This record gives sequence, C-alpha cells and structure tokens, in this order.
Amino acid sequence: MELSQDTKNILGLQLPTDPRWVNLAEISLEGILTDHAYCEQKAATTCISFVQRYSEKEKLVLELAPIVTEEWGHFRLVLQELHKRGLKLGRQRKDQYVNKLIAFQRKGGHYEDRFLDNMLMMALIEARSCERFKRLSEGLNDEYLRNFYRRFMESEAGHYTLFIELAETYVDHEKVRLRWQEWLDYENTVMASQELRGDRIH
Ligand SMILES: [Fe+2]
Ligand SMILES: [Fe+2]
Repeated sequence: MELSQDTKNILGLQLPTDPRWVNLAEISLEGILTDHAYCEQKAATTCISFVQRYSEKEKLVLELAPIVTEEWGHFRLVLQELHKRGLKLGRQRKDQYVNKLIAFQRKGGHYEDRFLDNMLMMALIEARSCERFKRLSEGLNDEYLRNFYRRFMESEAGHYTLFIELAETYVDHEKVRLRWQEWLDYENTVMASQELRGDRIH
C-alpha cells in the first residue's frame, strides 16, 4: 500500500529524511534491527504506562490495550529477523532523539497539558517512524526487507492517527492543533541537529 497524499500531508513532518540514510542502514543491518527492536519495546512499554496513568480514560485504555500487543508483536518480528540472519540483539543505546523530545514536554502545570504532550509526543514518534520505514520500504535493495518494512510503515501510520484522535477525545481540538504545530516545529530542529547514522531508526 502506498501512503496516500493525504496521509503524507497529515503526518506534517517538516524535514524529510536524507535519502542517504537508507544506504547507511543497509550496511548496518544488525545495528538498525537492534535499534528498531528497542523502538518497538519502548512503544509497548509507553502504552502500558499510559494505561496505568490514565486508567480513568476509558477510550484510551480500550484503544491502547491492543496496541501494546501489536507493538510487542513488532518487537518479536524484528527479533525473529535478527535470528534468521544470524545477527544478535545488541544493547540498547541512548535514544537521543526521544530524549530531546522529552525535553520539550511541559513538566509542571496543568494535568491536561501534560496529557496532551504525552499523546502528541507519541504521535510524533509514530509519524517519524512511519516516514523512516517508508524510506526503507522504498529504498532498500533487498525485496524481502522492503516488504518487511512496508508492514511496519502501515502499522505506525495507524498509531500516529490513534494518538492524535486520543488527544482530540479529551482536549479541545484547537488546542491540540496549536500544540501539534509547536511539536512539528520543534521536531524539525531536532532532526536537523541529529547526526545521520545507519544504525538508528531516528
Ligand atoms: Fe510498532
Ligand atoms: Fe507504533
């Protein structure tokens, strides 16, 4: 499935990934698969923590419970891929991209603002992951891996939409829209400052 033009626009990311990144990823397969596996693990862990933290939000709990299973399923798929290729799951590295995003979250203040930042940060990570997987699904030489990454791309696009939807379920739409724009602007500066590495999804 091609992402529709609509989806691309909705993703709204301001800085497309440097096309050279795919070539770097291709030559560091063990590194990129390891980093990818931990991205999936962190997605599952974060969804579990949201269920705990926002247990009073019935829709959120109902919608995120199956995402935990899905993200963990993704982790297992990546692990399987490593083993199939005789590669090892390496150690988790410091995730500079995510750490920089966390730094943008409002720490004090209103509960609702912190909730909104939690939803939007996840939406953003899903959006960027989706964009990166799309690059891999189009640019890798190995046809099997191109298809492998297409499945992830489609899945993360759905998660991006879900987190925006959850934000809009509990927070005024205009407020969501304005803060989302701030997140997109900030992510643009983060991406521009990131070193281009083939062994990192972000
Ligand atoms: Fe995933
Ligand atoms: Fe996801």
